[in-house]
Amino acid sequence: MTLFTPGDVSRVKLYTDDFAADPHRHYHEMHRTGSSLVPVELAPGINATLAVRYPAALKILHDPEHFPADPRRWQQTIPPADPVLAMLGYYPSTRFCDGPEHKRVRQPIKAALDRVDPNRLHAEVEDAALSLIESFSERGEADLLYDYSFPLVFRVLNRLMGCPDDLAAQIAEGMTLRFNAIGEESVRGAAQAKTAFERFAAVKPDHLGNDIASAMILHHQNLKDPELVGAFMSCYGAGIQPLVNLITNTLCRTMADDRFGGGVLGGSMLVRDALDEELFYDPSMSVFCARYPTTPVLFEDVWLPVDEPILIGITACNNDPDIQGDRTGNRAHVAWGAGPHMCPATSIAYLIAQDAVEQLLDVLPDIRLATALTWRSGSFQRALAGLRVVFPPYTMPPRVPAPPLRPATARTDMSIPACGATVASPDYANHLHDLADHATHRDRTRPDIASSEGPHER
Ligand code: HEM
Repeated sequence: MTLFTPGDVSRVKLYTDDFAADPHRHYHEMHRTGSSLVPVELAPGINATLAVRYPAALKILHDPEHFPADPRRWQQTIPPADPVLAMLGYYPSTRFCDGPEHKRVRQPIKAALDRVDPNRLHAEVEDAALSLIESFSERGEADLLYDYSFPLVFRVLNRLMGCPDDLAAQIAEGMTLRFNAIGEESVRGAAQAKTAFERFAAVKPDHLGNDIASAMILHHQNLKDPELVGAFMSCYGAGIQPLVNLITNTLCRTMADDRFGGGVLGGSMLVRDALDEELFYDPSMSVFCARYPTTPVLFEDVWLPVDEPILIGITACNNDPDIQGDRTGNRAHVAWGAGPHMCPATSIAYLIAQDAVEQLLDVLPDIRLATALTWRSGSFQRALAGLRVVFPPYTMPPRVPAPPLRPATARTDMSIPACGATVASPDYANHLHDLADHATHRDRTRPDIASSEGPHER
């Protein structure tokens, strides 16, 4: 029997450049140990256990009693300024609670996400995609991460959420810094994003519209303000970067891997299947779903220490040698998690990613990689540092831009234009210094829009 305790085992350092350069070699070595669990370091001095086998992932994710999601006891053992807290630190949110409380907080988020009209979403993605492609198609070269995936996902999510441009710009910068999870910049990023989310939660009840944030506010569970902030943070935090990575990485593999690219461009592989293949082999969140046992747990032949995180090695579990075989049409990967915390936004995420990839390849089918690939280090995500491409310059035909969002629903009984009817600057990631001034914070009392009049999704 093994007990993972600080200092007495050699730990795989997930945050290093060496790990990022070839994670599959490391996962292969982890699998060769024969164990389901591997001791790792998430950041210098931050110990954790990584589940690297598929059955182990399912067992953990379906057992919130032994593997709760609340990090607060562990967090007390971590210096408050440690950058790893930018990714794992507690805030009131569906991500960090279990049981009836989790159900109560998750319901409004799931209901709001489920209400998104796929036709409208398709129109939003198409409009964002074409206007972004238009901005670089005549140049014959682009960085698809900064010129396409990142601004597209932000623009679409801001429109869906109903977030005003100035706050969206602050959120974009904060979340980007936060996801780097290296150094104090990530802490600053998380704090900046939180401030913007607080402003968003404060102003949004006065600007209800046909959007996700309004649906959350109107839900009969009547989330309190900090819970609303947490819901917004979860959607942006758990949503943006994984989606940006999924789009960028899938486009990258279409160009870098002949079998994959030939299938996608030749039409023998559906883009939807290509996304799942990417989510299986190299998922955009490679390590996630942190859980924190509060009593010693014997898992297989390992005693897991109390108050030390155990995370799912999503890439490792999907590539478990015991579950390989033909994956055509197989969506049984754990890229979306599993169990009660499983991603509530899978339909939206698939649709955005699929449309984004299809639009680009339709307009620029002869796109090619321009430089060698560099992967960003960091324990949690599989992210390229950039994706420079070249293609024959192309002038887009004139097109009609998408109509503005419809105004607020009748239920709110307020004739206010929908927040987010205009979109923020497309070039966030490259030029995050170009920020708008902070929105004027209006200290208004939230109208009583809960209970009987609100939509009662379950
Ligand atoms: C490719 C894109 C995405 C991937 C790979 C992804 C992955 C995940 C995973 C693995 C979890 C489980 C976390 C856990 O078990 O602790 C999760 C949860 C979550 N995701 Fe996603 N996600 C994506 C997109 C989105 C989007 C677009 C949104 C919102 C607009 C979103 C909102 C959430 C929320 C709110 C949770 C927390 C659910 C809970 O704890 O009950 N995700 N996501």
